[in-house]
Amino acid sequence: MRNRIVAGNWKMNLDHAQAKTLTQEIAQVLGDLPQNQRVMVCPPSIHLNTVAAIASEADGLEVGAQNMHQAASGAYTGEISAGMLKSYDIHSVLLGHSERREYFHEDSALLRQKVDAALENSLEVIFCFGEQLAQRENDTHFEVVSAQLKDALFHLTADQWSKIVLAYEPVWAIGTGRTATPEQAQEMHAHIRSFVRDQYGDSCADQLSILYGGSVKPNNAAEIFGQPDVDGGLIGGASLKTEDFLAIVAAMK
Ligand code: PGA
Repeated sequence: MRNRIVAGNWKMNLDHAQAKTLTQEIAQVLGDLPQNQRVMVCPPSIHLNTVAAIASEADGLEVGAQNMHQAASGAYTGEISAGMLKSYDIHSVLLGHSERREYFHEDSALLRQKVDAALENSLEVIFCFGEQLAQRENDTHFEVVSAQLKDALFHLTADQWSKIVLAYEPVWAIGTGRTATPEQAQEMHAHIRSFVRDQYGDSCADQLSILYGGSVKPNNAAEIFGQPDVDGGLIGGASLKTEDFLAIVAAMK
């Protein structure tokens, strides 16, 4: 059975006290999750230790990083490495988010290196990708998405794919309030799974969790998560409010 996952991407939001409060509120309510369900929050890196400490006292809440550098260590002012994350007991990292691609010029060649560095340190990678509005409008979205996957991930072995979660996030839906329809999400997720199946075979494709991200809210989560190839969501804005995030978690079933 595939894992169903709801992950909150806090981006560059919340001060220390706010991060603590939000984590405590989520942790308090979360309780036991069904065996195939996972819930994660991805705070800014400065809050990782605090958030992980609170989460470690609670059932079921996992903590991931939003980014990391590809090198093991060195003169890279302002950066953090996979090994550092590991040393704080962080087991997952988002890579390839569209904001990293757009504002920090991360391309597939760089993401490949980051993915390799994460896997070498046994971190799970939540790999984000998705087409821009113009690419959907000129009908190249399937090609674009396939190339993003192939260029950053198809050098991996089938075994390494057990540490990969995909998060399809159409750029036009991120932070815009304009979500993909459940049909658009399903169509793309089915394409992604079959693209991975062609390269890696049934067992890899059938085990792979593919999350949808882009304006997921309490009022649309259940319908999107109800699609056969959608295994949960990566949540931005709505992950900053306890009730909204918990309502989206509840929509996973
Ligand atoms: P959003 O962000 O839910 O605010 O659209 C999603 C994301 O960027 O992961």
